[in-house]
Amino acid sequence: MKVTAADFSYIAGLAKSVSALELDQGKEYLVESRLAPVAAQAGCTSLEALCVRLRAENGRGPLSGQVIDALTTNETLFFRDFHPFETLRLHILPELIERRASLRRLSIWSAACSTGQEPYSLAMMLLEHFPQLAGWNIQILATDISPTVLARARLGRYSKLEVNRGLPASYLIRYFQADGKDWVLQERLRKLVDFRELNLIGSWAGLGLYDVVFIRNVLIYMEQATKLAILANVKRHMASDGTLLLGSAETLLGESALFRSRVVNNSVVYEPAS
Ligand SMILES: C[S@@+](CC[C@H](N)C(=O)[O-])C[C@H]1O[C@@H](n2cnc3c(N)ncnc32)[C@H](O)[C@@H]1O
Repeated sequence: MKVTAADFSYIAGLAKSVSALELDQGKEYLVESRLAPVAAQAGCTSLEALCVRLRAENGRGPLSGQVIDALTTNETLFFRDFHPFETLRLHILPELIERRASLRRLSIWSAACSTGQEPYSLAMMLLEHFPQLAGWNIQILATDISPTVLARARLGRYSKLEVNRGLPASYLIRYFQADGKDWVLQERLRKLVDFRELNLIGSWAGLGLYDVVFIRNVLIYMEQATKLAILANVKRHMASDGTLLLGSAETLLGESALFRSRVVNNSVVYEPAS
């Protein structure tokens, strides 16, 4: 299915206003490949027909939701980039646990969690390396704009290919059960993560205060002003001694006075600036 220039610019405008996703010229192929199944499912024989229906919905109906969902890039893997998780394990968490010893409470937020590999990596790491947290109030919140990835994440069911990406073999044996061709994460791990739909440019009502925030590989798809507005909001939902981790190709250096950077174990982490 081909997209016309006018429809491409309509869809790009819709994606930007609803999700802050930037679709630059040249991404027509992406719109065509991702929206063809949405169009077919909606009974539209062309993307033009789909756009007629979308315009009629004014960007607020169920079809628009499906289009945004389909346009999200959900690439993720267990322990992505490895070193941020090591930095967390070896430095950030031990220091934090010491500071929270009397409260016995720890909260982590994986914003833009995709199919769950990121928050589940955190949950496995806590179980594996921090037995002293037994009896603590541990909160792992994982959010995403896409209901499709959240539904998959809640199942904790991964293909062989997915568990071969980043997951240590010992974790696969200890925390997963084989089921047909898939691997399913044990319920005790799944129970540790609370998955919720949240649009980073929508309402954050009901969100608490977090000690560690992962917001990785999502801001790269957004323009600078939106990125800074989201980071200002993130800061409001972080403990003053909390830590923010970005994707390995992302940096705030020289971009924002909201956070100060700290190099720990060769990783750059961010802390709320006072
Ligand atoms: C590339 S994945 C990153 C997953 C994980 N954080 C990682 O680094 O492996 C980006 C995720 O951001 C989500 N996303 C995109 N725009 C969003 C928005 N406006 N609000 C919340 N999530 C969004 C997508 O649905 C997608 O699952």
